[in-house]
Amino acid sequence: MSEPKKFGGKTFYPPDWQKVAQSVSRPSRENCGGCHFYGGGGDGVKHGDLDSSLNDPPKKLDVHMSEEGAGFDCTRCHTTRAHSIAGRCYKKPAFTERKSLIDDDMIERIACSSCHTETPHAPGSKLDDHTDKVACQSCHIPAFARQNPTKMRWDWSKAGRLTDGGKPVVEKGEHGKAAYHGKKGAFRWEKDVKPEYYWFNGSLEYILLTDQIDPVEPVELNRVMGSPDDPKSRIYPFKVHAGTLPFDTQNRTMLSPNLFGKEKEAYWKSYDWDMALETGMEAHGLDFSGEFEFIETEYHFPITHMVAPAEDALECRACHADQARMAGLTGFYMPGRNQNNVLDSLGWLIVLGSLAGVVVHGLMRKVLAGKRG
Ligand code: HEC
Ligand code: HEC
Ligand code: HEC
Ligand code: HEC
Ligand code: HEC
Repeated sequence: MSEPKKFGGKTFYPPDWQKVAQSVSRPSRENCGGCHFYGGGGDGVKHGDLDSSLNDPPKKLDVHMSEEGAGFDCTRCHTTRAHSIAGRCYKKPAFTERKSLIDDDMIERIACSSCHTETPHAPGSKLDDHTDKVACQSCHIPAFARQNPTKMRWDWSKAGRLTDGGKPVVEKGEHGKAAYHGKKGAFRWEKDVKPEYYWFNGSLEYILLTDQIDPVEPVELNRVMGSPDDPKSRIYPFKVHAGTLPFDTQNRTMLSPNLFGKEKEAYWKSYDWDMALETGMEAHGLDFSGEFEFIETEYHFPITHMVAPAEDALECRACHADQARMAGLTGFYMPGRNQNNVLDSLGWLIVLGSLAGVVVHGLMRKVLAGKRG
């Protein structure tokens, strides 16, 4: 297009290439955030650790992106080669090697250990013994959505309530956010949320509209891959987004509705699920049996941004106690949390022993240093 064109009563001008070329610069947090903070149709709807509070965060919220901290843009960690951005974690892990910039100054800077190494704490510290099993994020992001709220539940089955005038009902809820919208259903928003923890090898698997599934609720729309026996897995924090979505009870597949559009079949025109599901699946070229139910679902988002200052990191007791943060994880032993009292006191002996070990180790270093001196 080189000439201005009129279309639908509006004039569209050709791009001013000179101006475009003169304003090329490194992408800012606002640039990347323009898409990634608003996924799912609003601020903080999807991710719990990517929202507009990161445009200008205080250091308490994010030590790396705060101007009072390191002032990083997204691309400081998401190093980019020829528009291919590091950090993808569907199917293939965001990174495969935990090298630091000291080992190899050409590595991507995406992992925490790229800059900090795997042993960032005081030499001989018990904390460093954790980093082969517990991801840095688990201790250093004690909660997500610490400034802005994030959507934790989205129930589509409740959609469709209209006013007498035929407009969708809207109801305000907590944190100044909508608790209900006639177009989309019922929501729950939360702030300062404790993550849930899973063994994670860096890959997420997800189900497709073509996959037949076992309708055991909640259906995991994406699955966190990893296990305690896998040396590449770490215990990692997640936001678990709950939902209620339409499911084909005959074909046993998830369903995708036709939401918007001018035609009357679109859900936001007639508020009729049967028509919306039929035309939605047709548009994908997929079969719909005509029979459906709403089913409980879960979606897992890794939590990796909003790293808090070191003094806000989790204390030992946050994990090493009964009913503490690791309660949902089984298949391995950790001191302090298990019911068995003998094992438990043994566990704490190990903890105390290892603290003493640090002191002994420290003393030995002094002695040896003195000898060498
Ligand atoms: C301090 C380093 C760092 C900064 C700064 C950073 N990221 Fe990330 N990001 C990571 C790491 C590490 C991962 C990979 C997590 C994993 O899979 O282990 C990641 C993963 C992601 C993912 C995919 C995982 C997900 O949560 O779904 C997205 C999207 C993302 N980052 C966007 C951004 C945006 C947008 C910004 C800027 C506002 C940003 N990042 C700034 C380190 C960073
Ligand atoms: C125009 C909107 C848009 C902008 C701007 C944008 N992204 Fe994305 N990004 C997307 C979409 C959509 C996806 C997922 C689609 C896909 O997987 O191909 C994605 C995927 C990603 C992923 C992989 C996510 C995963 O879970 O595997 C990362 C990391 C990422 N973007 C980082 C960035 C960074 C850093 C910037 C700024 C330099 C940026 N993006 C700018 C839309 C955008
Ligand atoms: C691109 C290099 C880089 C990456 C990647 C990186 N950091 Fe940092 N980190 C820094 C720098 C530089 C600082 C110092 C910030 C400042 O000025 O306070 C820092 C500070 C910190 C602090 C604060 C220490 C204090 O004094 O309070 C913690 C905790 C931390 N990082 C943890 C992490 C975690 C967890 C990750 C992965 C999610 C990570 N870092 C990824 C470079 C990085
Ligand atoms: C088991 C919990 C835990 C894990 C796992 C953990 N940290 Fe820490 N980290 C802490 C605590 C607690 C502190 C503050 C006390 C201290 O510095 O000894 C801290 C301090 C730090 C500091 C500040 C150190 C200083 O000397 O100022 C940095 C940087 C840091 N951690 C980065 C990381 C990175 C990177 C990882 C992953 C390779 C990681 N941490 C894994 C709990 C943890
Ligand atoms: C985020 C949760 C978390 C926090 C916080 C945490 N731990 Fe652990 N710890 C674990 C897990 C998980 C294991 C078992 C996996 C392993 O052996 O590393 C473990 C194992 C241990 C072990 C036994 C294995 C070993 O390496 O000797 C000791 C001792 C220990 N932790 C001490 C501590 C102390 C002391 C602190 C506080 C400075 C602490 N932990 C903080 C999660 C945590």
